[in-house]
Amino acid sequence: MTALHTFEAPLRFFGVEIGSRMTVIDIDGDLLLHSPIALDPARLVPLGTPRWLLAPSRMHHLHAGTWLERGLEGFAAPGLAEKRPDLTFHRIVDAACEPLGDAVRFIPLRCFSLTNEVVLLHRPSRTLVVTDLVFHFTAADPLATRAVMFCSGAYPGCRSSMLERIGMNRAVAREEIDGLLALDFDRLIPSHGAIIETGGREALRGAYRWLGL
Ligand SMILES: [Fe+2]
Repeated sequence: MTALHTFEAPLRFFGVEIGSRMTVIDIDGDLLLHSPIALDPARLVPLGTPRWLLAPSRMHHLHAGTWLERGLEGFAAPGLAEKRPDLTFHRIVDAACEPLGDAVRFIPLRCFSLTNEVVLLHRPSRTLVVTDLVFHFTAADPLATRAVMFCSGAYPGCRSSMLERIGMNRAVAREEIDGLLALDFDRLIPSHGAIIETGGREALRGAYRWLGL
């Protein structure tokens, strides 16, 4: 039995509220925390035992240390251990793998070295969990957030930002995003903005239309 849960926390980025989401995956009573946030561990007690975490990007590591100190085993995106030598990770995810069984697949992307994002596929719920690969801010978000995201190309709708357009290796990105689009998922969970409950694959394709996919 594997289930998926999400928790949100406020997060300001350059003075603008963008929020942050942690996705928690229950693998037979043991919990995997994707992109950990500051959260009272008591809130996870009803779900199971926190066992692992994935620090899924060179940009998503702020609260990993707190959870590592609680005894979780840490999986990290390539390059994060060098950026955060104070943290001890169990394993660097530098190739697609399923270290926790076939319910969960880790897919590291090589197309954007700023983040080195590791995407997570949760097969039982047909969910793709990403960090900054796409953003999905809506009219419910503060005006300042929408304005800044609009200026960075990441609003409205499910969008990548100007940073990806500038910094991604497009040939590698085409291959890797194409690979993600071939996966069996319908829900798309970004770390910032609203969850796309259905139509996630089309939303991802739309966010990367500029790659000519
Ligand atoms: Fe982020």
